[in-house]
Amino acid sequence: MTTTTLTLNGLSCATDADPATPLLYVLRDDLKLNGAKFGCGLGQCGACTVMIGKTPVFSCLTPLSVVGARPVTTVEGLGTPDKPGIVQQAFIDEQAAQCGYCIAGMIMRAQALLLRNPSPSDTQIRRYMSPNLCRCGTHMRILRAVRRAAKMLAAA
Ligand code: FES
Ligand code: FES
Repeated sequence: MTTTTLTLNGLSCATDADPATPLLYVLRDDLKLNGAKFGCGLGQCGACTVMIGKTPVFSCLTPLSVVGARPVTTVEGLGTPDKPGIVQQAFIDEQAAQCGYCIAGMIMRAQALLLRNPSPSDTQIRRYMSPNLCRCGTHMRILRAVRRAAKMLAAA
C-alpha cells in the first residue's frame, strides 16, 4: 500500500488511495470533500475544477501521483458558509447558481483567473472561463460575479 501526503486547503493530509486514482475521487470518496463535482469525467465540463498551486486543473483527469508537493485548493478552502471568500461572496451576491452543479468549478477557475489577472476585461473573463460549462445557462450571471469579485478584491 502506498501512502500519499497532500497539502490540501493549507493542511497536510494523507491518503492510501492508489496513486493512479483521479484526484477528484480521492477528494470526494477518500477525503470527503464534495465541493468538486463529477460531471463528465473526460475533461469537457469543468465541474471538477480545483487548483494545484495557482493553476486550475480538471481533477477528474489528474492522477493523484502527479500532484506531488504542490498545494491543492478546493472550493472548501476558499471560505465557509458563515464566512465565504471574496469570490464565493460575489457568486452569492449575483445569485450565479441555478442548480449549482457547475458552481464550485466556476468559482475555482475564477479564483485562479483573478490570482493571475486581478482586473480582467470581459473578453479575458470569457476566454479564461470557457473550459467550464454551465448547463443551466447562467453564464451572464457568472460573468457578473467574476466582475464583482474583481471589484471586491480591488477594494479589499
Ligand atoms: S468532470 Fe472533470 S471536466 Fe467534467
Ligand atoms: S448552475 Fe446548473 S449547471 Fe451551472
